[in-house]
Amino acid sequence: MATGYSYPTLTSEEAAELIPHGAMVGVSGFTPAGSPKAVPTALAARASELHRAGQPFQIRLLSGASTGASCDDQLGLAEAVSWRAPYMTSAPLRKLANTGRLDFVDMHLSHVSQMIMEGFLGDVDFAIVEATDITPDGRVYLTTGIGNSPAILKKAGKVIIELNSYHSPRIREMADIIVLPPPPNRIAIQLHDPLDRIGRRYAEVDPSRVVGIVHTNQSDGGRSFSKPDATSGRIAAHVSRFFLEEMAAGRIPQRFLPLQSGVGNVCNAVIGGIAANEDFPQFKVFTEVLQDSMLDLIASGRVIGASTCSLSLTDEKLKFLYDEFDEFADRVILRPQEISNNPGVARRLGVIATNTAIEVDIYGHANSTHFFGTQIMNGLGGSGDFERNAYLSVLMCPSTAKGGKISTIVPMCSHVDHSEHSVQVIVTEQGLADLRGLSPIARARKIIDNCAHPAYRDYLHRYVESAPMGHIRHDLRRCFELYINFQEQGAMLPDLDFSQFGED
Ligand code: COA
Repeated sequence: MATGYSYPTLTSEEAAELIPHGAMVGVSGFTPAGSPKAVPTALAARASELHRAGQPFQIRLLSGASTGASCDDQLGLAEAVSWRAPYMTSAPLRKLANTGRLDFVDMHLSHVSQMIMEGFLGDVDFAIVEATDITPDGRVYLTTGIGNSPAILKKAGKVIIELNSYHSPRIREMADIIVLPPPPNRIAIQLHDPLDRIGRRYAEVDPSRVVGIVHTNQSDGGRSFSKPDATSGRIAAHVSRFFLEEMAAGRIPQRFLPLQSGVGNVCNAVIGGIAANEDFPQFKVFTEVLQDSMLDLIASGRVIGASTCSLSLTDEKLKFLYDEFDEFADRVILRPQEISNNPGVARRLGVIATNTAIEVDIYGHANSTHFFGTQIMNGLGGSGDFERNAYLSVLMCPSTAKGGKISTIVPMCSHVDHSEHSVQVIVTEQGLADLRGLSPIARARKIIDNCAHPAYRDYLHRYVESAPMGHIRHDLRRCFELYINFQEQGAMLPDLDFSQFGED
């Protein structure tokens, strides 16, 4: 523990005053976990004040992934951001991006650190990084989300540290931090098991660039998820059964493989479903976000341990972790996203990737990010890092949305994040389509029969069978017909009886 900092102590308002209009600001964390709280809120207040006085004030905001409400939401509501990367879940920012008032750059999360280090995104003028401690020689002990902080701290011209006493200083015991040297001097990442350690417990900064320390005591305010609904439960049951069948067939080893799980209710239901099934052995997790349900599974012993980039926990669950820290210290490893999401490591470990999509098409392309090809939801996140490089790539979604007015199985996706070459298994509550080894036409028939809602199957089959012949059969005059129907008539197939669909 370092004492007697030579770094000046600032209030959050004083720190916010240092940041000029137009600055590129890199922030710590990954999800609300570890994201700075006091300075972004003060920055948003300053922006609002300047806007009221008729002066411009906007920053360019670079992070690990989404951030907490006190960062993205506050800055979004103040319209204080002109450019944002690489991921967000904030409704205010989403609104700005979808109305042309924010340049949002949606990126594979594993790529961002290298882009920062190489200067692809321009100079990082300021860093605002949450930590439990900083030593006079520049060791920065991060909190619950590692994200891109190690790279941001190396590249930022000026650094503000939020020292948050809410977090246990012991959180550093979970950190495993390295910054890879750039090509052509890249090194092999010596991870052969999700729980291997290869780095240090701290990130590093040049102390002369630290312009101030802001003391805080604030929780991450992590979001909780509702209990899985019946649809998520059915998806989880299909996925569990499939994995067990693959193990019985010898295509997944008996000791199982490291599991990656995306965010949200469906993914939580899948993890819960696997863990509840005694036919599965204990397993390890290699993922980017660890949520409440996963911590319970580690506590119960069903999950041996997890490699992750962040502890995206509710306050209650984080308190449990801190209270029982000895139980978890060696079983949870917090890594920078360049490592937690590393494509090469995911491939080496044989990760089984399970993520949620907005929609998929009959040939296996998947859309995780944009409604109707235009409206951003959150972004790609780590889904591409894992889906493209997994041993088995599973994408899941309910077969319909908006009370059956939308089919999530469509002829041609309005936006593609994961191509037919990356997606191996598609699952809805209707069933599962294993696409491995199937030609496009065989994929189409299987996805329609197994995954589409019965009310949409006829339409989709007729679309395929009447489309002009080709390796992939498409009718370019009709491939977006369902979307146009929805936009013009309020439903993809307006004549359906919608009482047959449950509420979403
Ligand atoms: N067309 C239009 N709207 C749709 C839709 C579709 N095909 N599918 C879903 N929706 C709507 C839902 O009706 C819901 O609307 P509401 O908020 O008004 O109720 C909204 O989209 C969210 O749907 P939901 O099923 O609750 O989504 P989710 O919480 O399970 O999240 C994703 C699904 C795809 C948005 C989310 O997983 C995501 O952002 N993924 C990309 C990033 C990622 O995979 N990260 C993990 C990688 S490690």
